[in-house]
Amino acid sequence: MAYVVQEPCLDCKYGDCVEVCPVECFYQAPDILYINPEECIDCDACAPVCPVAAIVPDSEASEEWIQKNASFAFSEETRVTEKAQVQHGPKWDPKLANAD
Ligand code: SF4
Ligand code: F3S
Repeated sequence: MAYVVQEPCLDCKYGDCVEVCPVECFYQAPDILYINPEECIDCDACAPVCPVAAIVPDSEASEEWIQKNASFAFSEETRVTEKAQVQHGPKWDPKLANAD
């Protein structure tokens, strides 16, 4: 089991999730973040901090988004561990964002 990033993150990328993940298993694509299901330990720290509720356990996720997360080309170059590394997208809304 793993947690899964879904469509609300697309073109937003608030980045709060990466700060709370104890195993640093978030990775950045140009338009979204993904969770590596091989590394996620199902701790549930990330889901409550996402301002747009983009993260759910895979038991609640769509097959499409489970596959998108699992098939991302995970590498150390794309791993993100701090909010400052996350490039916000065009749908990022300052009214929803928590302070950096
Ligand atoms: Fe990281 Fe825990 Fe979220 Fe998995 S559930 S991505 S381990 S914060
Ligand atoms: Fe995306 Fe939410 Fe994290 S919008 S970057 S999953 S805090």
